[in-house]
Amino acid sequence: MLNFKEKIAEAISKTVNINKEELESYIEVPKDTSMGDYAFPCFKLAKELRKAPPAIASDIKENLEIDDKYINKVEIVGGYLNFFVNNSILVEEVLQEFENRNENYGTSNIGEGKNIVIDYSSPNIAKPFHIGHLRSTVIGGALYNIYKYLGYNVIGINHLGDYGTQFGKLIEGYKRWGEEYNIEANPIDELTKIYVRINNLCKEDESVLEECRNNFKKLEDGDKYCTEIWSKFRSLSLKEFQRVYDLLGSKFDSWNGEAFYSDKMGEVVKKLEETGKLVESEGARIIGLGENTAPCIIGKTNGSTTYATRDLAAILYRARNYNFDKALYVTSYEQVLHFKQVFEVAKLLNLDEKYINGLEHVPFGMVRLKEGKMSTREGNIIKLEDLLNEAITRALKVIEEKNPDLEEKEEVAKKVGIGAVIFNDLSNSRIKDEIFDWDTMLNFQGETGPYIQYIYVRTKSVIEKAGYLPKYEDINIDILTDCSSINVIKTISNFEEVLKQVVQKNEPSILSRYLIDLSQSFSSFYNSNKIIGEDKEKQDTRLYLTNAVGTILKTGAGLLGIEMPSRM
Ligand code: ARG
Repeated sequence: MLNFKEKIAEAISKTVNINKEELESYIEVPKDTSMGDYAFPCFKLAKELRKAPPAIASDIKENLEIDDKYINKVEIVGGYLNFFVNNSILVEEVLQEFENRNENYGTSNIGEGKNIVIDYSSPNIAKPFHIGHLRSTVIGGALYNIYKYLGYNVIGINHLGDYGTQFGKLIEGYKRWGEEYNIEANPIDELTKIYVRINNLCKEDESVLEECRNNFKKLEDGDKYCTEIWSKFRSLSLKEFQRVYDLLGSKFDSWNGEAFYSDKMGEVVKKLEETGKLVESEGARIIGLGENTAPCIIGKTNGSTTYATRDLAAILYRARNYNFDKALYVTSYEQVLHFKQVFEVAKLLNLDEKYINGLEHVPFGMVRLKEGKMSTREGNIIKLEDLLNEAITRALKVIEEKNPDLEEKEEVAKKVGIGAVIFNDLSNSRIKDEIFDWDTMLNFQGETGPYIQYIYVRTKSVIEKAGYLPKYEDINIDILTDCSSINVIKTISNFEEVLKQVVQKNEPSILSRYLIDLSQSFSSFYNSNKIIGEDKEKQDTRLYLTNAVGTILKTGAGLLGIEMPSRM
């Protein structure tokens, strides 16, 4: 596809003798289109060329040889060079590219031959799948799709929290009162109750706590009774989690959780022993990490392993089995210290530099609820399944008000409700805390999932009204050079670049923002142009653009994990 930035950088490079990659990285897209389509800030070169930016600008302009087929005006404003592209060429290039790619518009092969491991969702067995795990599931899932779309080989791992001392407690509680609870019917709720009860008992009676610790030790040593109950907890929990995954459309390539590494930690401990850095401290085995970082605990006082040790074993395993170029961990920022410690200790495992450099924590902010809006029996823990079902119910209510005669309302409500939750989760930069507010996220006119779906549905209904899809050969590009059409075209042309930025920063919100921009640009195109009913050529041309927008919205939303209804 035609790359204007590259063309401009190439031309500038010939005048200043600086490589074009560097120059290209400086080129900006001005917010105000009267400042051109692209701007080159000459002050970036001031130091190197030892000249004032305006002087650089005029020197470059004087010597610049750039094909006027592509760029039809270059202006100097202060220390900037502003470039105006030839709109007809732009329209032609963009639509030709769309014609060739269609649903695959924006794909690329930058990821070819690269392996990306994404560790996401990863809820804890026997505990409620709560709203914090929603973010991991949704952010990780979007990254998964987008990396894949750009040609990377992606491995999605649900690193289940299916191991650890809490299972010692659960086993103890189950041993004592198992009969009283109906865990088959309602696994997570009942196991949570057992957990709360045994925890209280542990607080009163130190010897019970000791029993619990021993249970976990026994589980690690493969004790038959403990293993059996543990595996029952695991499979019942997974069955319940699966209902949430079905609602969200989440899929994983591997479900190897923490327990999977139970027989793989010996090697980690051995390697760490060999470095001489594994030391005893108050009965535990730790690796010191200097003054500013808390030490990483490798083995507990009673000899059992830790969350960190399992993560270290997982790094070894993933390096060997997936040969990863990047290994991403999507969790809340509460785990920043954990990953800092683990990545630091991983350097002692004798792994190739490539793997150490590829480790990356992708942290995200907390979800905060508008107070008093939602509560559950347990108090403040909100179960994700309840929340998703509530989203669907609320979406159905909005649809019933707006379009009572709609067919298959339930199906549409599901896509709208779930889409609203997913989009809300991805609409701000991930590190920010998220405010969970039903009215905001379900507003059809806001910057929301339902708004994007609504614009998509509008593109569909225009095409349906026309009754045909126009052919590329029948369109006349000069019809699309007005301001609002060009705006749509320019936005379309940015799609691939946007996807690349998403993976560069592991930031799906860049795509969310893009889909809002595309929707809004289409909305003003729609308001200022008559699509159907003018002469055939205009109709074909504008319909063609309409279809391109709808297709890209669907592709983009799909990458975020949002499905499009065909009506709403
Ligand atoms: N189960 C953990 C939690 O709920 C998240 C696990 C993240 N992945 C990892 N490899 N540590 O907090």
